[in-house]
Amino acid sequence: MRYGYFDDKNREYVIDRPDVPVSWTNYLGVKDLCTVISHNAGGYTFYKSTEHHRVTRFRQNGIPLDRPGHYVYIRDDDTGEFWSISWQPVGKNFRRAKYTCRHGLSYSKFQCEYRDIEAEQLMFIPIEDDVELWDVKIKNKGRKKRNLSVFTYLEFSFHHVEIDNQNLQMSLYASGSNYKDGIIEYDFFYEPWTYHFFASNFKPDSYDCVRDTFIGDYRTENNPIAVEKGECSNSSELGGNHCGSLHKKITLKAGEEKRLIFMLGVGSREEKGYSIKKKYSSVRNVYYAFKDLKNYWKEKTSVFQCKTPHEGLNSMINTWTLYQAETCVVWSRFASFIETGGRVGLGYRDTSQDVMSVVHTNPEKTKYRIIQLLRGHTSKGYGLHLFDPAVFEPEENKLPGVKLPTVVPTPSPADIVHGMEDVCSDDALWLVASICEWVVENGDLTFFDTVIPYADKGEGTVYEHLTKILDFSAKYVGDDGICQGLRADWNDCLNLGGGETAMVSFMHHWALQIFIESAKELGRNEDVEKYTEIANKVKKACEEQLWDGEWYIRGFTKKGIKIGTNESEEGKIFLNAQSWAVYSDVASNERAIKCMDAVDKYLFSKYGLHLLWPAYSQPDDDIGYVTRVYKGIKENAAIFSHPNPWAVIAECKLGRGNRAMKFYDAILPYNQNDIIEIRQAEPYSYCQFIMGKDHSAHGRARHPWLTGSGGWFYTAATKYILGIRPTYKGLVIDPCIPSDWKSFSVKRKWRGAVYDIKVKNPDGVEKGVKSILVNGNTVKDLIPIQKTGTINKVEVVMG
Ligand code: NOJ
Repeated sequence: MRYGYFDDKNREYVIDRPDVPVSWTNYLGVKDLCTVISHNAGGYTFYKSTEHHRVTRFRQNGIPLDRPGHYVYIRDDDTGEFWSISWQPVGKNFRRAKYTCRHGLSYSKFQCEYRDIEAEQLMFIPIEDDVELWDVKIKNKGRKKRNLSVFTYLEFSFHHVEIDNQNLQMSLYASGSNYKDGIIEYDFFYEPWTYHFFASNFKPDSYDCVRDTFIGDYRTENNPIAVEKGECSNSSELGGNHCGSLHKKITLKAGEEKRLIFMLGVGSREEKGYSIKKKYSSVRNVYYAFKDLKNYWKEKTSVFQCKTPHEGLNSMINTWTLYQAETCVVWSRFASFIETGGRVGLGYRDTSQDVMSVVHTNPEKTKYRIIQLLRGHTSKGYGLHLFDPAVFEPEENKLPGVKLPTVVPTPSPADIVHGMEDVCSDDALWLVASICEWVVENGDLTFFDTVIPYADKGEGTVYEHLTKILDFSAKYVGDDGICQGLRADWNDCLNLGGGETAMVSFMHHWALQIFIESAKELGRNEDVEKYTEIANKVKKACEEQLWDGEWYIRGFTKKGIKIGTNESEEGKIFLNAQSWAVYSDVASNERAIKCMDAVDKYLFSKYGLHLLWPAYSQPDDDIGYVTRVYKGIKENAAIFSHPNPWAVIAECKLGRGNRAMKFYDAILPYNQNDIIEIRQAEPYSYCQFIMGKDHSAHGRARHPWLTGSGGWFYTAATKYILGIRPTYKGLVIDPCIPSDWKSFSVKRKWRGAVYDIKVKNPDGVEKGVKSILVNGNTVKDLIPIQKTGTINKVEVVMG
């Protein structure tokens, strides 16, 4: 069953049946203001922080789904009948009304046709201003004149989400609303610099700032009393629950269209409201703001565009997977319908990984994130697992603070620098790769010399931070040289303490290799020697301790019992131990082939690769929380999406393009567009996991958007399947593709030059490059870095 389709030309996903089983969301905003919005215009807005600066309210995990939202109601003033432009909240019958939602890059467009009235609500946040715009068009397609009323509705939130949810004796009396000059202002009396406003490009006929007055007793957003009556009550109040409803009566002659603009902004009426109202009352300015946003994404997506025989890959890589990866970097992992506020900040491992995939499309934000992560890095070498980077901002960047009467302790760095008991063994290792990738992409070697304070004490250059990360992993090993598991590794639910983790030892080897390349480039020969020696030691320990005969084990409990061995009853084989043995270059070719064959044999399903097999059914606290998770869900043998691309990369390293594509295709959301009765979640976003074969809902996808799968699938497809990888010395082209691909092309911008790459595969191979021509000249294996401003023709023949 399908509910929509990909419109590749416009880079939109079009939902033409809005009664999808779960909310299909999108993200508006690219800088500081963000709205998470569903296909039914449900959702919420925040400014910089979902926890500390909420603008609109959301009742998460509620029924009906995704309420409240940012709604526009239309009322026929001759009959009293009303509906909403988005299908919900009024929810007219599809037999009489037609609804469409177009989710695009940082905008969503809702369209409806009902009783000869065609209406559209385009929502976006201009790059330059902290305001959400609703560009509403209403057209009379019929033959007779229509008298209509238009009402908006949104529900303001107390700015601190925890207080909004838990401390009503404060939130309900510490914020108020007022109306003047067509602008609703929502203020925080205790925090006199914080305001939100809602305005329009017209003089309203009536308004409501008080939620309960607009909605009415024992009613919901489905049937607000104000809309039913055809008029708001001009309510406002100090204290209480507040909303933004502006009402306008319009008359449309046959064929006539009218356009109304609404603005939800951050700031006071005086400071921002008047100027924003003036600016965006001009439809010309709205048009240009939207154009700028389109250009922003055009520019970004133009850094890497491919054309292959695989339409799903083209659509996902050229638009959706990049968009997902960018979203994780820009908004971090705590703003969705799953994470709706209480947690903020950066997950050390999560953001470190997210950064890696978009260093080419977002050099500024990725650099900023890297610096934030380095400020959360301790002088002992480990990263703070989950931390609020605001705490480590230099004083001059911090907001002024008044103390709220409710005591919320002021966090200080000392409070949040945790000790060894909370260290995850993998967290900071990811950052080694992210930083080196950033430098390779952007060519700024001086970044390694930037001095950044440690979270606990002292400071060091970026380069020194990196050596501390690698030294930490070399220090915290068991007697056999394998890294200790500590609180957890990538797998939050594998809690091995002093036991050992194969994955982190493989990762250590991987990070060492990446670092050594950078040390070579910087001419730090002593370090090249030192860290090569460590890498050799790590590889030897892995090969001696971790091979199980058919595959690699996942580690040891602190009692020395093997995890992920054929001898175990449950959890015999783990995906990450195999993919990382190969990706890290630890595994010999023979073992690599064997272990990846075992992955295919035991872990593959038509919806993707399982994280482990068989699922655990007996709690075992020496292994960890994973044994206490329901079978087939999340870390206990679900199809955890994030590790799937590592298996694709591993297969590409082995040169098995058909197998790599089999793994890529199984989990590709695009391929599940027509089985939404099984998948449920949006087909344009990877989800955190898909229920595994041990669960009754096998194939159901959960937790869209904020998962490392976006970034890693982007990396797997662009750098390993299509094989285009920047290095310090030049561009590598090393595709690993299905043998039936005859050709593909890629346009890649790198350091100011364009590489127009055409790859031919006349012999139907999966890997191997016979020849490369750059602007007609043969090069051996690497395309030298070309001059800024040049467009370079690259012809590659595989064979
Ligand atoms: C989700 C967490 O955000 C991520 O850090 C972790 O690697 C995976 N779960 C697996 O446990």
